[in-house]
Amino acid sequence: MLKKLIPALVIAVAAAAPALAQNVTYTKDIAPLFKENCSECHGDGAPLFKEFKKQEEKFTKEKLGPRMDSYPLLVTHVAYPETGAIQRRLDDGKASPGGKPGNMYRYLGGDDQERQKNLALFKAWLGEGGWNLNRWVARGDVPAVTKEQLDKLKLAY
Ligand code: HEC
Repeated sequence: MLKKLIPALVIAVAAAAPALAQNVTYTKDIAPLFKENCSECHGDGAPLFKEFKKQEEKFTKEKLGPRMDSYPLLVTHVAYPETGAIQRRLDDGKASPGGKPGNMYRYLGGDDQERQKNLALFKAWLGEGGWNLNRWVARGDVPAVTKEQLDKLKLAY
């Protein structure tokens, strides 16, 4: 009896985790989180990435980062061309080689509990195994992303 039950239990538990991840969508979870914590500096008053890069210093002084307040804009900072930017900036240090949190991690919430909760939401949105900090083209000690890593991205709308 028990012998028969154990595999069923293992399957049930294993199925629960991805199910949770699949339920995270941009519209339901990420857009409100972004509006609350990020849009002040990355919202409709912010420059598009190309424009931002031309005057990076000036915009940074004005506390304006590249605009990312829509699904397509945000995805460019996860997948391509700014591959891994969201992951590098929001990581709490656990996935970073030096163990240092990314410089946008602190904006994820007012205290560490909220930051961890919102980081978990972002990770679930990217999908199981989708949280990697690599770039499109390798730079310094950051390797280039692989097709296998990109295949893991879910990014549900
Ligand atoms: C107080 C203003 C401010 C807030 C709030 C803020 N950011 Fe930023 N962010 C910036 C500025 C300025 C830059 C550009 C300077 C830099 O690279 O650090 C930036 C850069 C970034 C980058 C790098 C983009 C790239 O491709 O190079 C990402 C990703 C990012 N922010 C994500 C976020 C997210 C997600 C949030 C919300 C959790 C957030 N930021 C909250 C000001 C802010």
